[in-house]
Amino acid sequence: MNLGIPKESHPGERRVAASPAAASRFVELGFDVTVEAGAGDGASYPDSAYEAIGAKIGSKEDAFSADVVLKVRAPRDEDDARELDLIREDATLISYVFPAQNDALVASLQARKITALAMDCVPRITRAQKVDSLSSMANIAGYRAVIEAANEFGSFFTGQFTAAGKVPPAKVLVIGAGVAGLSAIGAARGLGAIVRAFDTRESVRDQIKSLGGEFLTVEIEESGEGGGGYAKTMSKEFIDAEMALFREQAKEVDIVITTALIPGKPAPKLWLKDMVETMKPGSVVVDLAAEQGGNCDLTEPGARAVHDGVVILGYTDMPSRMATVASDLYGTNLGHLLDELGGAGTFNVDLDNDIIRGAIITQEGEVLWPPPAAPEPSPAAKPTPKPAPEPAPKPAAAAVTPEAPAATSEGGGFSGKVLVGLALTALWLWLRFGSGASNSVGETESEFLQHVTVFILACFVGWQVIWSVTAALHTPLMSVTNAISGIIVVGGLVLATDDVPQVAAIIGAIAILFATINIVGGFMVTRRMLRMFNK
Ligand code: NAI
Repeated sequence: MNLGIPKESHPGERRVAASPAAASRFVELGFDVTVEAGAGDGASYPDSAYEAIGAKIGSKEDAFSADVVLKVRAPRDEDDARELDLIREDATLISYVFPAQNDALVASLQARKITALAMDCVPRITRAQKVDSLSSMANIAGYRAVIEAANEFGSFFTGQFTAAGKVPPAKVLVIGAGVAGLSAIGAARGLGAIVRAFDTRESVRDQIKSLGGEFLTVEIEESGEGGGGYAKTMSKEFIDAEMALFREQAKEVDIVITTALIPGKPAPKLWLKDMVETMKPGSVVVDLAAEQGGNCDLTEPGARAVHDGVVILGYTDMPSRMATVASDLYGTNLGHLLDELGGAGTFNVDLDNDIIRGAIITQEGEVLWPPPAAPEPSPAAKPTPKPAPEPAPKPAAAAVTPEAPAATSEGGGFSGKVLVGLALTALWLWLRFGSGASNSVGETESEFLQHVTVFILACFVGWQVIWSVTAALHTPLMSVTNAISGIIVVGGLVLATDDVPQVAAIIGAIAILFATINIVGGFMVTRRMLRMFNK
């Protein structure tokens, strides 16, 4: 089965549908890969690199006439580029299509009986994360937004004390903490800036914080959660409160990166003209939502504008500005989709496959988009560039490890019941033999039973304490257990060196070993956590 990778002909587009590394996966899947000569030039991938992985270099016609055609942008149907005409009737095309905005293209694909799969329509479900090129590209866009801002900004991002004086750190505000926003927060923090972020979805609070950003809030309580982890349109009161917050921020921040988007709607206007005018000259606004109309009043899509000394970047080609990595990630996403399609051997556009059903636009002259409504995935299914810890769910005991779901603070479940049984047994043993009451057991045995009782009770209390403590308190808990471990080490040393039976000495030595492991482990974990804050 032939697979073609034509050169992107859209003006300014530097990406190619796959890097040589990503294309090698297509070869592994059994495809005969043909790459148009010079297709990878804009992304710094020479033809020789494609030949090295077993691909053929051919003409534009060769690449477009394959059984499967892979592209980044949709094929053009313009006077200077009649790409659609080059695709065979029964071929499969995989590229961005944006069917909602491209009626004419969808009609042409239908008329030409091309099977078209749109990378922009891959459903944002957990299983499809490996195919989700929108997230791959948004991740790059967020990072690049920070680099573009740094390029325009006339100072450091990180604060500096130099012999010549003090330079304050840059203050960055990120509006919208989706994939692009989170990536921007990570990049700006990496450069040392003070980063604040605002989003209507409360669920991103912990993700922002885990990347070192400050989550800004407004007084009004209103959930911004729409379906599938996306945002919804907010009430006028909420937007007014948001505007008041931004007006205050405009006096302070040097860089604003806006990424706010509501699926299927024009981008909300959030950074208004008066806010730009409040900013210090030399400040920078990067509007990643420029293509959807922009979040900033003064954005000129695709261009750089300057207003009152503030630079406003409305570039719509951020991933293309990092074409090398963008082509690699996009090609990797394509490789996963080709895998879902069965590879060359068992190629099958299976409409029962939820990823394929979501992405398919046309097949055999039929328009299959939009797909039938699927049950809404949980917000947690939405991918992020860097996995961040979820807010600690309750009960915290169950959240510590999924393997211990039964051990809840209520003491319910199997382990809890076993421990309650152990505790009752210990209590009975102590009352029966260890409480000093007259009994027929000798003094040594009574002492031993007292120790066993203490041991069992310690296990019970220890288990309950650890599994009932909320995850956020595990660090102080670790300090307490380290202190207890210290006592155990002292006790073990006394026991091991005392004039006691050999068995007791061995137990003492084992206690020293385990307590030491606990102490050393505790210190190592604490050091690791402190390193995270020292960034
Ligand atoms: P996303 O849908 O994951 O994130 C958008 C975020 O905006 C969501 O977290 C949402 O809650 C938030 N939001 C919505 N309304 C808001 C409001 N009123 N206030 C604050 N936050 C609000 O989208 P993703 O994938 O992160 O992309 C972000 C933007 O970047 C999109 O507009 C996308 O088209 C654009 N993009 C631009 C590129 C370029 O070259 N300029 C390249 C790739 C993506």
